Amino acid sequence: MKTLKIMTVVAVLATFFTAMMMVSTASRAATEEQFDAAATYKTKCVACHGQKAEKKFDSTLPDPQLIDAVMKGKKGEKPPNMPGYSEKGVTAEQATALVAQMKQLKSAP
Ligand code: HEC
Repeated sequence: MKTLKIMTVVAVLATFFTAMMMVSTASRAATEEQFDAAATYKTKCVACHGQKAEKKFDSTLPDPQLIDAVMKGKKGEKPPNMPGYSEKGVTAEQATALVAQMKQLKSAP
């Protein structure tokens, strides 16, 4: 009888922990899905910077400067200028991801 009780407790605990793990994995996946740098680049940046980030993008500039350009905008040689995206809700983290995405596109064959 005692063994049965222990086994029940173990089973309940196991179910509980499995459920907890499933919940935390699901919420982690959701936060990652919220920002997709590749998709954002395609919808918001491709028009000016090109499919492979080949236009108006100097990947040799230091990262902080590139990220700053995304956040605050930048004037080009002639219009249209680079809009500042921080006022559109882009965070520094997302700007970093976008710059990484552009470098990847540019370096891809
Ligand atoms: C309306 C056109 C336009 C759009 C849309 C645009 N950009 Fe730009 N971007 C520019 C111009 C112009 C510059 C300045 C280029 C220069 O210095 O000559 C620039 C500069 C940059 C730079 C700095 C690189 C450099 O060489 O100065 C980065 C990084 C950048 N853009 C990322 C992005 C990202 C990410 C998006 C989308 C979220 C985006 N841009 C959308 C026009 C645009």
